[in-house]
Amino acid sequence: MFVSSPSSVTESNDESSGEDGADASDARTSELADTSSGEGESESYRVASYDPASRLLSVVNENGVPAQLSVAKGDNVQILGPALQEGRNLYLRHCMHCHGVSGDGAGPTAQYFKVKPRDYRQGVVKFTSTKANVPRPSRDDLFRIVKLGVPGTYMPSFMLLPDEEVHAIVEYVRWLAMRGEMERKLNAWLSLDYSKEAVADMEEPAEEIESAFAEAWADEASDNITQFSEELQMDWQEADKEENVVVPPTERVPPSPESIERGRKLFQGNKAKCASCHGLTGKGNGPSTESFNDLPGQPGVKSDKAGLFDIWGNIVKPRNLTAGVFRGGRRPIDIYRRIHSGIKGTPMQAFGSTLNKEGEIWDVVNYVLSIPFENKQGGH
Ligand code: HEC
Ligand code: HEC
Repeated sequence: MFVSSPSSVTESNDESSGEDGADASDARTSELADTSSGEGESESYRVASYDPASRLLSVVNENGVPAQLSVAKGDNVQILGPALQEGRNLYLRHCMHCHGVSGDGAGPTAQYFKVKPRDYRQGVVKFTSTKANVPRPSRDDLFRIVKLGVPGTYMPSFMLLPDEEVHAIVEYVRWLAMRGEMERKLNAWLSLDYSKEAVADMEEPAEEIESAFAEAWADEASDNITQFSEELQMDWQEADKEENVVVPPTERVPPSPESIERGRKLFQGNKAKCASCHGLTGKGNGPSTESFNDLPGQPGVKSDKAGLFDIWGNIVKPRNLTAGVFRGGRRPIDIYRRIHSGIKGTPMQAFGSTLNKEGEIWDVVNYVLSIPFENKQGGH
């Protein structure tokens, strides 16, 4: 569902008026716009509330009486829920100076930070509760990130904002992410066939290429736009499904010295190779930080600089685990999820299928949480 205008909506019932109603059925729209279309009978509704969780839109008619919209499958309904409007205002006030007006992560303050504000336009954030094969964050993830901030970076905690305001901001961040991704998909499609290089290699005269382009655009654009938006919607819906949240199959293994020792062996051993990035003692100085690695998402393409890179093109250091600062949260379940699904957009991959024996991930969680204390006591 696309959302576009603030609070007054109009339904035009033109399907009941013309005789061409039947064959126009796929184009039949219940357009919710902020002005009356002027054609035929139209009724005005106000959006009473929009519940992002259930995606239910409640409306009231001019007299404030709850009303039902006769919207059928395939209808094109455009609403700009008040939540988005409010979200936008709040975003501009609290987030824009770091994350940018368009969500590109390049707001005016961003240049001063070593750890850059997230560019939302790939639809990826690092610290999610969702499974490794679910590329998007859930609404709950975004809510938690905004409420708690990202410790150890300039991303502040917005704990003091009321929950409703944070929910509204979350809707707006999702919208920015979807918009950005849509643009990227369109760009990729357009540049696929009609990049300058491709055109330069073609034998046909420029006018022919131009008309082929115009034809392709006319034929395919609307199909592609529909397809892209369906893909986007599906990806984001997946992230909100309960079954896609990582829930450990067993309760936390108690952090006994034995469990911590098993975790240490896994951390330093060859199965998970945590130490190759984090170093044997977890200081974040493993050998991968000095070698030339594949660029994320581009297997076989080595970067021309040593170190590890994220999908936004920034160098990322493996966390120094002796400091005990965890950006994605310090509860055992947070660390469990980091290990199970990896840290999205970064070279730290998912270990859910490698550490698949009962309790293994918990052992590693227990070890990771013990590292700061181990070091204080001058241990290994
Ligand atoms: C002072 C600058 C600053 C402000 C203000 C700020 N952020 Fe951030 N934000 C950051 C930085 C820096 C990161 C990157 C943290 C990292 O990569 O570990 C970030 C990351 C994020 C992430 C991604 C976290 C992840 O798991 O990848 C989200 C979502 C986010 N911010 C949303 C917001 C929202 C919404 C607001 C406003 C309510 C906001 N931020 C305000 C600096 C800021
Ligand atoms: C290929 C390198 C690599 C491997 C292998 C790796 N990590 Fe990481 N790890 C990273 C990077 C990079 C980060 C920082 C990501 C960021 O925040 O941008 C990180 C961050 C972390 C964090 C911090 C999470 C937080 O919330 O701040 C923990 C905990 C962690 N790794 C544990 C592990 C464990 C346990 C293993 C082995 C099972 C492991 N890592 C394997 C690269 C790696």
